[in-house]
Amino acid sequence: MDPISSWTDPAIRALERSDGLNAMGKWVSNTFHRLVGTGRAKEALAGTWMAHPAHPMLTDVTIGAWTSAAILDVLGGERARPGADFLAGIGILSAVPTALTGLSDLTDIVDPEERSLGTAHALANVGTLALWSLSYVARKAGSRRAAIGLSMAASAVMTGAGFLGGHLSFRKGVGVDQTAFDPPIEDWTAAIAMDELKDGQPRRVMVAGRNLFLLRRGERVHALANRCTHRGGPLHKGSLDDDGVTCPWHLSTFRLEDGSVLRGPATAPQPTYRVRISEGQVEVRGPDRDDLR
Ligand code: FES
Repeated sequence: MDPISSWTDPAIRALERSDGLNAMGKWVSNTFHRLVGTGRAKEALAGTWMAHPAHPMLTDVTIGAWTSAAILDVLGGERARPGADFLAGIGILSAVPTALTGLSDLTDIVDPEERSLGTAHALANVGTLALWSLSYVARKAGSRRAAIGLSMAASAVMTGAGFLGGHLSFRKGVGVDQTAFDPPIEDWTAAIAMDELKDGQPRRVMVAGRNLFLLRRGERVHALANRCTHRGGPLHKGSLDDDGVTCPWHLSTFRLEDGSVLRGPATAPQPTYRVRISEGQVEVRGPDRDDLR
């Protein structure tokens, strides 16, 4: 049997390798970062406040409104025109927050190929918005034929943009909790000798194939997944304060005690492991099912 090969892969590879797209994405990201910073506005756009990424949720509103408008344009007849126009307008309005949350996600991409692909996705969405805006103007001007032609063109570009967004999430894992596929350590497992941990100095330790962050404070040892849930930054290279550890990549802060998010843009808590000291060895186990939120 022949292997299944995707006819879209060459096009995807060409986009990923585009230096121009990467440079444009970098410029947009830097500008966006300068304007928005790392405070509450960034957390709002990332979705930290609801512990869920904001962009995928909003895309449903925009794509749903525009898809419904396009269907009414083609199949709804004259009576459906007000509904189609209304939905076209809803799609345009909702595209603004959708685009802002998408820009926020683009800003967090660290891999150049993923950034190129993210930039292509963003450009296709800008083209979609422009076409729907022209379609809306044509509707208000009474040019129904032009409006429908533009909505069809917009739908085609939107489908391409959605394809790229799906590729980024489902093939590249951009935006996925970076610890989602870490299996728990079911039994107490030795991680390191207690006297090898220096007080207040984080250590990265591999335990049963898991990449762990260990921090000793007095006789207490904290153990968290070392790969940041947000985009995979190395927590052991981050900074510490009394309560938390701050990731060096986008400055999300996680509580040492339970891994909860103290500051975004992360939306998912950091998995934490149970720790016990046995005969001078630091042993870890977990995360327990109840601890996985
Ligand atoms: S990788 Fe983005 S905050 Fe850690």
